[in-house]
Amino acid sequence: MRVGSDRVRIAIIGGTGFERILASGEPMLIGTPFGIPPRITLGEIGGRRVAFLPRHGPEHGVPPHRINYRANIWALKSIGVERIVSTNAVGAINPDYRPGDIAIPADLIDFTKCRKSTFFDAAPVTHIDVSMPFCPEISGLLLEESRKHAPVVRSGSVMAVTEGPRFETPAEIRMLRALGADLVGMTASPEAFLARELGICYCPLCFVSNMAAGMQERVTAKEVLEMAERLYPLIDAILKGVIASIPSERKCGCTVPTGGP
Ligand code: HPA
Repeated sequence: MRVGSDRVRIAIIGGTGFERILASGEPMLIGTPFGIPPRITLGEIGGRRVAFLPRHGPEHGVPPHRINYRANIWALKSIGVERIVSTNAVGAINPDYRPGDIAIPADLIDFTKCRKSTFFDAAPVTHIDVSMPFCPEISGLLLEESRKHAPVVRSGSVMAVTEGPRFETPAEIRMLRALGADLVGMTASPEAFLARELGICYCPLCFVSNMAAGMQERVTAKEVLEMAERLYPLIDAILKGVIASIPSERKCGCTVPTGGP
């Protein structure tokens, strides 16, 4: 896929509160063997051609466990995307973290239960390496850019991913902390793994919207949305800077294996 004279190699997957980035771009609906993803918008950010996909749909109507992750990643691959930066709202499990912090995670613990989480569903049996689940190149750029804009930036965080759509119980959060998780969200898995299966770089830009269950009185969806709105200009600035700084050739190891369209 070409837009203007440039291939669209970079995509943003917008999470909760970030459904409207690139609202004025060129919309396109793409079919995949797995179904139709939300409308993808093509436009320009940071001087580069970018595809934007709202993970929960344009009106935030798709809950985390119902997202068609395979259709989303397949569609991006089919238009030529090689790199994905996503935005993710997360709860803080690490007691040193605070709402409003930006975090670029380094690792992930998958606690999702009933999602279609692989493209390698048949012969030949394929086991991908996820020793480094997030692209080290994009992660480095995100850290560098976040430090220019955000007062507190956490690096090296371990992110747990739960099935949702409910928030966790306090006992689940204590368990996740004992296992080494600093953050908890609901969507980075299987997104990160599906991207790797297709040889696409992927890294989340996380913002802490709340302390996790049991660490504050209640957890509400309202506070997640309010924090997204408060941090929108900051995250927008980080995204613009990162997209402008992504080098055209990839030097990471995310390119193998490459399946898909
Ligand atoms: N748990 C899971 N996902 C989240 C949370 C949380 O506390 N906050 C924002 N996304």
